Amino acid sequence: MPVTVGFDVYGTLIDTHGVVVTLQQMVGSRAADFSRVWRDKQLEYSFRRGLMQQYENFTICTRHALDYTCSYFKTPLDREQRDKLLAVYRVLPAFDDVKECLARFSSGDFRLYAFSNGSADAIETLLVSAGIRAFFHDVVSVDEVKSFKPNPGVYCHFLRRTGSSGSEAWLVSSNPFDVIGAISSGMKSAWVQRSAEAIFDPWGIEPTITVPDLSLLAEQIASYRSTTAP
Ligand code: LAC
Repeated sequence: MPVTVGFDVYGTLIDTHGVVVTLQQMVGSRAADFSRVWRDKQLEYSFRRGLMQQYENFTICTRHALDYTCSYFKTPLDREQRDKLLAVYRVLPAFDDVKECLARFSSGDFRLYAFSNGSADAIETLLVSAGIRAFFHDVVSVDEVKSFKPNPGVYCHFLRRTGSSGSEAWLVSSNPFDVIGAISSGMKSAWVQRSAEAIFDPWGIEPTITVPDLSLLAEQIASYRSTTAP
């Protein structure tokens, strides 16, 4: 039975701060801060929409968060500039370690999925443009159940869609809220601590494994399985 591995997309496979280069042309030295506020607000909007059961897809959360961020920085970006930023968001780059990581899974008994807050068409576009679509068996989007991570319903949906059981399915994410969501729903989870400054939420719910990047993930999951096999 292959091991199911669901990869979070934004922030884990795909670098959301890849938009900084385009932002620099628009907001200069504030580009990195702008990108951070935009990303934080995008996630906040998804959490709030999930809680309020007022679902709009992640692209809309991203657009509303961009509008908020322009107001926050008192930056009068016109509609054309905003559309350009949103277009860049659809073709953001993958992190450097992603291709090699995904390729290493092919030597084991794994079935890989992209599992994201993003809508299926947005994720397909991102993965194709980053040249990594072929590594994935399928894309599972929260859009199919009209809610967002970390609603337990979206992890249950992932397990149903992939025909896997929680104890044999992994979520790989750099987002602590996503890791905690997956563990709470009975899955295994690898936290990708992409920077030494990244903090894991002190809720007493720990990742199954923590890795500094994706380079040896296939081996780390295989090794975990072999040491815990009954
Ligand atoms: C995703 C967000 C959580 O891709 O980064 O699901």
